[in-house]
Amino acid sequence: MAMGPCCSVNLNTIIALVILQGAAVVLFYEWYASISPRHSASPDGKVHVLLLSSWRSGSSFLGQVFSQHPSVFYLMEPAWHVWTKNPKSSAGALRVAVRDLLWSLYKCDYSLMKSYQPENPSLSNLFMWTQSRALCSPPACPVKSANESHCRQMCHSRTLKKAEESCQTHTHVVLKETRFFELESLYPLLQDPNLDLRVVHLVRDPRAVIRSREASAYGLNTGSTIVLEQRNVSAAERQYEVIQEVCRSHLNIYERGIFNPPPFLEDRYKLVRYEDIVRNPTTELNDIYEFVGLQMTSEVEEWIHKMTHGKGNGGSNGAFQITSRNATKVSQAWRTVLQHNTVKRIQKVCKGAMLLLGYRTVDSEEEQKRLDIDLLVPVEP
Ligand SMILES: *[C@@H]1O[C@H](CO)[C@@H](O)[C@H](O)[C@H]1NC(C)=O
Ligand SMILES: *[C@@H]1O[C@H](CO)[C@@H](O)[C@H](O)[C@H]1NC(C)=O
Ligand SMILES: *[C@@H]1O[C@H](CO)[C@@H](O)[C@H](O)[C@H]1NC(C)=O
Repeated sequence: MAMGPCCSVNLNTIIALVILQGAAVVLFYEWYASISPRHSASPDGKVHVLLLSSWRSGSSFLGQVFSQHPSVFYLMEPAWHVWTKNPKSSAGALRVAVRDLLWSLYKCDYSLMKSYQPENPSLSNLFMWTQSRALCSPPACPVKSANESHCRQMCHSRTLKKAEESCQTHTHVVLKETRFFELESLYPLLQDPNLDLRVVHLVRDPRAVIRSREASAYGLNTGSTIVLEQRNVSAAERQYEVIQEVCRSHLNIYERGIFNPPPFLEDRYKLVRYEDIVRNPTTELNDIYEFVGLQMTSEVEEWIHKMTHGKGNGGSNGAFQITSRNATKVSQAWRTVLQHNTVKRIQKVCKGAMLLLGYRTVDSEEEQKRLDIDLLVPVEP
């Protein structure tokens, strides 16, 4: 049959052509993906940043690093309002309410926030509002305030409408939150085409966190009851149970963000360790700025230098009063102050998180007290 050789050759050629074409499509697609931007921008070009951390982990400081920037509208702990309104609830039960509040705030819509406020709320009803440079400057406030007390005096009676206006005039909306224990409830925000959300996940050595919680008689009781889902835990055990929850959540968030993230989370998650910032503030903070698309300014750089190289242990001399102190010293203080038994307990409940986040455990009191032994291990960025 004459047709046989003729057509089988043609068939082979066709198969080869189809394979080649397939390869070309794949190559073109990869090339196209490599030249297109990492993120899909939001329609108005705004960037939305969630500074995700837990208590006493340096998040006020990092929050200020954002707040100081003229392009940033910063708000601290909006979930505080949700938790304070629901003291008998649990973190798990409140997370959708918290998520929805953040969602509306990223869109500069304060109507949901009003439902957590008294009638006719003003700026002064927002938790820690004077920590926000944007709320202490026009258009939120009639004047640019020189310091916190000046801000309180000049701007406290302005309406939340003014916060919305100010939010709209800034290119970056940054919310700091310590009341999130997982990433999953944020997925709808990450998939919302109107938002360009980036998550900055700030962690700190749990031993330093405990020492910091012990050092301050901070009103954490309602907070820890909500974290512990209203379980009745004795005073002595409480701090370990809370830190265990915190460590567990850091581990889950980090694993979700780094290993096998869903496509909408890729390149939108950054782990930051407090200790790395303390050791290398300029490099680390520049990295964080780059991740969220902010240009470092000389004013912010100067402010950072003053905050991280200050002397003393709590004197305040910044325009917005974050204590200026020797940060390296503070981050090592737990090693001399904490009982070794306490350290062992923390290491036990936080083992997995410490291993993954690069905090080496100590095996003896001697090792704990020898400050020349470095306990920080590099981690995958
Ligand atoms: C805050 O700024 C105001 C106005 O410039 C000034 O009068 C006041 O002394 C300042 N207060 C502090 C504590 O620096
Ligand atoms: C919690 O437990 C302690 C003893 O373990 C008990 O005395 C106390 O009444 C309990 N509190 C509540 C609210 O159940
Ligand atoms: C901060 O404290 C560390 C440890 O005590 C010390 O080595 C360093 O020189 C101090 N830095 C400043 C600027 O005081």
